[in-house]
Amino acid sequence: MGVVRVLVLHGPNLNLLGTREPDVYGRTTLAEVNERLQELAQQWGMELTHLQSNHEGQMIDALHEARGTVDWVILNPAAFTHYSYAIRDALAAVEIPTIEVHLSNVHQREEFRTHSVTAPVCVGQITGFGVESYVLALEAIRLRMALEA
Ligand code: DQA
Repeated sequence: MGVVRVLVLHGPNLNLLGTREPDVYGRTTLAEVNERLQELAQQWGMELTHLQSNHEGQMIDALHEARGTVDWVILNPAAFTHYSYAIRDALAAVEIPTIEVHLSNVHQREEFRTHSVTAPVCVGQITGFGVESYVLALEAIRLRMALEA
């Protein structure tokens, strides 16, 4: 396999990172998250693109478009995690290995956040490490690639 292509897809309200409930989500902005991932991807010889959307349909379109052009998806579906069967079905349809990430530990919070409808069609879920949740997901992809090389 050549260069590994990774799409980082951020769901609704994550554009407000840095100012949105900082006690829960931290003070790092989305631009800083993407920058950090971009730096690591470059170091690790990966090609990284990112997209944030507040719209379910746009996220689904992005997953459809990723088919054939992306090897891995790092996905924070945000609130869609808990109820979007449409995003779950899109993930199942495109069959791109996906890692679900959450900044907060969804299991420590409200009951409705403890259930993910998307995680069952993902390779795995990383939750509760703040921005490092994304970094750990990228690291997991790197480890997988090293094993497969
Ligand atoms: C989140 C957790 C979700 O429950 C919430 O709706 C979000 C962010 C997280 O990254 O911790 O918007 O996905």
